[in-house]
Amino acid sequence: MKLYFGSDHAGRELKDALLSHAAKKGISALDLGTDADLSVDYPDYAKSVGESVLAEPGSLGVLVCGTGIGMSIAANKIHGIRAALLYNEETARLARQHNNANIVVFGGREVTEDNAVSWLDAFLSATFEGGRHARRIEKIAELDRITR
Ligand code: RB5
Repeated sequence: MKLYFGSDHAGRELKDALLSHAAKKGISALDLGTDADLSVDYPDYAKSVGESVLAEPGSLGVLVCGTGIGMSIAANKIHGIRAALLYNEETARLARQHNNANIVVFGGREVTEDNAVSWLDAFLSATFEGGRHARRIEKIAELDRITR
């Protein structure tokens, strides 16, 4: 499994912690920045991670900004991206099982590192259930085509 990571300055610390957790688990973890405390614009990182995930079928993304909201809005603008802002272990699991999310988003100023690590693990160990959820995801894709 390949995981692409991106954050702005407000999410960098948590992004680095999640990346090293993933790497320790033997996951191929790629850091697309930011790598400094300088103020940067989160849509730039949502774009890099979203494009990378779409370019490599089966890969997933992790995005972190201060609240997780800006990254979620930005990533979900990209056709084919389903970015889920996680707020507990159940939503982490369901983001995969029901929404087939291909990017998970965290609010670096809103969650503890321990929680974020366990939510990422819960997301990664879940599997998409398909069935009625596949139909709903197809409807989301259709909405996306209508509004483009
Ligand atoms: C940066 O200060 C902050 O606005 C950003 O990290 C994010 O929370 C936006 O949604």
